[in-house]
Amino acid sequence: MASVLVASNRGPVSYTLGDDGTLSSRRGGGGLVSGLSAVDSQDSLWVCAALGDGDREAVRRGVAEPGVRMLDIDPEVYHDAYNGIANSMLWFLHHHLYDVPREPVFDAAFRRRWASYRAYNRAFAEALAAEAAEGAAVLVQDYHLALVPGMLRELRPDLRIGHFTHTPWVSPEYLRMVPDDIVEELLWGMLGADELGFHTWGWASFFIGCFQQREDSTGHAQGLWPSGDPWYGVEWRRHDTGKGRTRVRVYALGVDGDELRALAHRPQVDERLARLREEVGGRKTIVRVDRTELSKNILRGLMAYRELLTEHPEWRGEVVHLASAYPSRQDLESYRAYTASVVALAEEINAEFGTDDWQPVLVSVEDDFTRSLAAYRLADVALVNPVRDGMNLVAKEIPVVSDAGCALVLSTGAGAHRELGKDALTVDPFDVSATAEALHTALTMPAGERAERTARLAEAATALPPQRWFLDQLDALRAPSD
Ligand code: G6P
Repeated sequence: MASVLVASNRGPVSYTLGDDGTLSSRRGGGGLVSGLSAVDSQDSLWVCAALGDGDREAVRRGVAEPGVRMLDIDPEVYHDAYNGIANSMLWFLHHHLYDVPREPVFDAAFRRRWASYRAYNRAFAEALAAEAAEGAAVLVQDYHLALVPGMLRELRPDLRIGHFTHTPWVSPEYLRMVPDDIVEELLWGMLGADELGFHTWGWASFFIGCFQQREDSTGHAQGLWPSGDPWYGVEWRRHDTGKGRTRVRVYALGVDGDELRALAHRPQVDERLARLREEVGGRKTIVRVDRTELSKNILRGLMAYRELLTEHPEWRGEVVHLASAYPSRQDLESYRAYTASVVALAEEINAEFGTDDWQPVLVSVEDDFTRSLAAYRLADVALVNPVRDGMNLVAKEIPVVSDAGCALVLSTGAGAHRELGKDALTVDPFDVSATAEALHTALTMPAGERAERTARLAEAATALPPQRWFLDQLDALRAPSD
């Protein structure tokens, strides 16, 4: 039995099945992995889903990593829950991405997918209930598992349950598109938690606003108590489960500066950096690194770069835009189409402005962390312009790693803007012309100012490294409630 449990869709390890039937495993990185490493591994368990055939085979063969339990959920149920609801509905909702003349559509097919989402959440709740020691702390992650806290609370009222949302939270107004019973299920699912965490107060207050909106229309929920402490309480009353309280808190995840700098100075990064330097040929660089998610606004970023070259022709031949766009969620047609548009627009810009010895955009669609770190080190300008983003750690990573300091062009849509805004060049993510101007300002920023801003950005970026972020949540969860 474990006394600290983490639940997330994607786990810390993934398996690949070779042609000869052998299984190889690969450990992932990220904030949660280093966060959980702060607690005694004897006592902790990570519950995650088997994502592909390799993972499923690993579950069947019983080759589990210690401290990890993978759930082999029926592939169709999993597909409908992950692609059909988490990625196509909840992601679009929280990022305000719907193309409203066409979407969303809440029909019978949606209801079937929602039933799968419920079953997938139930599988997690049951596994956690079975594995948790008396009074254990359970930290549930993200929109994939929004119903888990409520389900788990019913199964195991003794547990301390936390949920952290890594994305934005939908605004109350936008949520009105969703049928009432689904909203109710979603919110009650979340409110099963003792503690709800968000990256910024902006997202947290949207959650509270959604709750208040329900309170008005259903009369099921009651009260809200803002307090002097850095948290808000939501007090609720439900016919079937009585009265309860959920605290809403903010933990602005940052980066581990020492670890990141060490990673960025490994020999393979030095080597990659030397090659990139050759490609760039002493020109200035504008760097962006994103997973190709529809919320990252890569297309408008490229449009802004094109406008920079048009409006400020002095930059032609003098700057290179290094854009890494990692493939993401390629099972979804909208993601494949978006990635293709990014590549096509980069090619258009290269065809329009490129010369024999200058390629204006170097785009990479490989998941290549070594190249990204090398690009971070080379960055004169970092472009981070999402339309809406829970935090955006790239905005925090580049200033920590860039060799000569970089000017950060950052949109108001990124959660990171709350902490980094005053030392960044702020842009409205939809304003392409203003972004082009900000790129120009960034490229011409005097070296002294750039270095000073970068030092302050790096300090803010490392204020809450992953281990602290995780332990703070654990402490709050274990603290006696009043
Ligand atoms: C982004 C979000 C996370 C989310 C993850 C899932 O990184 O910021 O909140 O958990 O995507 O990505 P996946 O590749 O597993 O769909």
